[in-house]
Amino acid sequence: MAGKTACIAPSILSADFARLADEVARVEEAGADWLHVDVMDGHFVPNLTIGPPVVEALRKVTSLPLDVHLMMTNPDAFIGEFAEAGANYLTVHVETCPHLHRTVQLIKERGVKAGVTLNPATSAMTLSEIVREADLILIMSVNPGFGGQQFIPSSLHKIAEVRALIDRTHSHALLEVDGGVKPDNAESILEAGADVLVAGSAVFSHHDYAAAITALRAGHAPPPRTTRAAVAQR
Ligand code: DX5
Ligand code: ZN
Repeated sequence: MAGKTACIAPSILSADFARLADEVARVEEAGADWLHVDVMDGHFVPNLTIGPPVVEALRKVTSLPLDVHLMMTNPDAFIGEFAEAGANYLTVHVETCPHLHRTVQLIKERGVKAGVTLNPATSAMTLSEIVREADLILIMSVNPGFGGQQFIPSSLHKIAEVRALIDRTHSHALLEVDGGVKPDNAESILEAGADVLVAGSAVFSHHDYAAAITALRAGHAPPPRTTRAAVAQR
């Protein structure tokens, strides 16, 4: 399956917040398919980020789908606000939703696509009763809370397991992977069955956003540039 292309969703968590509109314009121009927006509440995860006003502001400056990842306790209380702010996808954690089916219905009733995600230590089995209702399944390949962490290798097994679950149940859900996604592991993540790759530091820490996105989508790193020194060594 080498060469499988993917939808790339840069995570603005690694962008320069002081120049957010400019950063968004740059990734859009560079070929981003979606924009991933990380909402953290300082309670479910040990970090604080942004809320509905920032989603509303982003909605005004981009036509990219806004893929909003809710790392928060009691997301039900904010679904209305995020929907009105212009989110296209709202993704909730199984760990924070005791009535997950109700939460998913609540999201869909607001005309938003419903995503369900799970932490690295949470079993893929927790998705079995919700997979047919979900529009998106997000596999966390780091413990949520921060950008720039290392991909947890056992996530590959879980991605393949969830791919099989989606296919077996004829779910229409897209499969997204978030955390530590880089050009050097993108190909194996795609081969395991992912449709959408979230990438924060891999895009925003690169001097050339278009090159970073192309490398992720193709699932391999661009060949090293041939320098005069390298040629001399041959
Ligand atoms: C982590 C967030 C991720 C994060 C990914 O809690 O959910 O979306 O921004 O960042 P990288 O790609 O740098 O791991
Ligand atoms: Zn995220």
